[in-house]
Amino acid sequence: MYAITIPQPGGPEVLTWAEVADPVAGDGEVVVEVAATAVNRADVMQRRGHYDPPPGASPYPGLECSGRIAEVGPGVSGWSVGDEVCALLAGGGYAEKVAVPAGQLLPVPKGVDLVTAAALPEVTATVWSNVFMVAHLRPGETLLVHGGSSGIGTMAVQLAKAVGATVAVTAGSAEKLAACRELGADILVNYREQDFTEAVTPDVILDIIGAKYLQRNVDALAVNGRLVVIGLQGGTKAELNLATLLSKRAAVAATSLRPRPREEKAAIVGAVREHVWPLIEAGAVRPVVDRTMPLVEAAEGHRVVEESTHIGKVLLTV
Ligand SMILES: NC(=O)c1ccc[n+]([C@@H]2O[C@H](COP(=O)([O-])OP(=O)(O)OC[C@H]3O[C@@H](n4cnc5c(N)ncnc54)[C@H](OP(=O)(O)O)[C@@H]3O)[C@@H](O)[C@H]2O)c1
Repeated sequence: MYAITIPQPGGPEVLTWAEVADPVAGDGEVVVEVAATAVNRADVMQRRGHYDPPPGASPYPGLECSGRIAEVGPGVSGWSVGDEVCALLAGGGYAEKVAVPAGQLLPVPKGVDLVTAAALPEVTATVWSNVFMVAHLRPGETLLVHGGSSGIGTMAVQLAKAVGATVAVTAGSAEKLAACRELGADILVNYREQDFTEAVTPDVILDIIGAKYLQRNVDALAVNGRLVVIGLQGGTKAELNLATLLSKRAAVAATSLRPRPREEKAAIVGAVREHVWPLIEAGAVRPVVDRTMPLVEAAEGHRVVEESTHIGKVLLTV
């Protein structure tokens, strides 16, 4: 088969379409013939040489895909050759075929086409596991989503609205904030013009900035607030005044999805299928796709994400 490979770390131009060995369906795995994958920030970091795949994962980038099952390995039940699926991956989505643990498969939701389904696994699993399984956002509470127009942000806004929360977002342009408003966001903060701590007192914050926002995030939190850090775009090291955390009885958590063991990923994917899939099939939540381009043009997809001109997901089709 062919895959996008990273012969050496560097700019988007290092991404190379090359012939590689076909994947094999191991115990508990299926092989998916990929229809589409998506560009995630983690792929950009991997390409630059800053984010190695976890042990045992495919060396090729791509944390999610959609496609058809081409082969079913030993010990897999409930899935058959030809089934249309999407999947959460530890890597290897930028390829014609990928081996996937069966616990990380999801059926293509009704009303979503096969290519668009590639926009769903990473954002639904990340948002559900953090905002709901870690931070326990409840109806009537307020969620602040940093980077509301990102792939992650567009899903977080919709899921929080669907469960009856108030949603605040930060973004860097009027166009991006307008897109968040269309998805249901109630409070819009252009972080280039306004300090978010003056605009909202959130019960939960989904943060992708890390160090640069840590103290201000805790300052902004309501009493009993929960901050979940999932991205480190603003650095890894910061000082925090614990007195603020203590007086608010607040909590700070941080998680990463990719290196988790298969069983944990399967539990998250199961929860997504139970709680998020019905919302998508009812039309209450939808995948937001900025653009779709051929996988062989992955370099261009990486440039788009690095320039951050996109709203939602950038998809790559095989
Ligand atoms: N921990 C995990 O398991 C996990 C899983 C998936 C993703 N992530 C992380 O989640 C983040 C979003 O991922 P993605 O794939 O959705 O990326 P993406 O679409 O490229 O989004 C990145 C976003 O960051 C925003 N941004 C940059 N500086 C900002 C600031 N100072 N304040 C607020 N927003 C700012 C950009 O918006 P503007 O143009 O408006 O600045 C852009 O929308 C990434 O950091 C990624 O690494 C973590």
